Amino acid sequence: MKKIAPSILSANFARLQEEINEVEQLGVDYLHIDVMDGHFVPNITIGPLVVEAIKPITKLPLDVHLMIENPDKYIHTFVKAGASIITVHQEACTHLHRTIQQIKKHDVKAGVSLNPATPISTIQHILPDVDLVLIMTVNPGFGGQTFIREMVPKIEALAQIRNDYHYDFLIEVDGGINEKTAFTCAKAGADILVAGSAIFGQEDRKHAIHTIRQSIER
Ligand code: DX5
Ligand code: ZN
Repeated sequence: MKKIAPSILSANFARLQEEINEVEQLGVDYLHIDVMDGHFVPNITIGPLVVEAIKPITKLPLDVHLMIENPDKYIHTFVKAGASIITVHQEACTHLHRTIQQIKKHDVKAGVSLNPATPISTIQHILPDVDLVLIMTVNPGFGGQTFIREMVPKIEALAQIRNDYHYDFLIEVDGGINEKTAFTCAKAGADILVAGSAIFGQEDRKHAIHTIRQSIER
């Protein structure tokens, strides 16, 4: 069963609790939280204090996407704040294997993310260790960007490797996901579809979630 993870980056931050409650009641699977530091990516968003504030107001697992340099320094803080999944960027980790082990030690799911230009081969040797691989389908930093088509064969290649080696990580896609691109990515092998502007950017969230759900279950 494919999963939907609304990204709160496109939510109204002044009404965050209502925004989260609304999508939770409409039946989504995770809450995707984009943490940006202004160094790894050009934008600055939210930090562990916001994650900690969200934790008690929702039952949804918190899918924390760290777009930050030196993620090792903050893993413990995000675990304490209530993260269910912590995803780091391959490009930000000098000792990726150590970072992944550090996340798993805390009994939290460990994910690794690849920017559009980073090949799958860079994570080949840690694939048996990760719970999730996040394929960026835009360059990270902002919501509302256009889906990069060339990422479709990348998702397919990763799904093929998972199949060939009997790995059990989940494949997540993030960036420019709407009902059309969600369908393409789900067909290519993605399990979790992150959507920011296609959900929180819409007036009618019920309709937005419903159309994405329908297109990935086709
Ligand atoms: C981009 C973030 C995404 C972002 C997606 O760097 O990682 O999670 O919120 O936004 P949309 O769905 O609008 O492309
Ligand atoms: Zn994200």
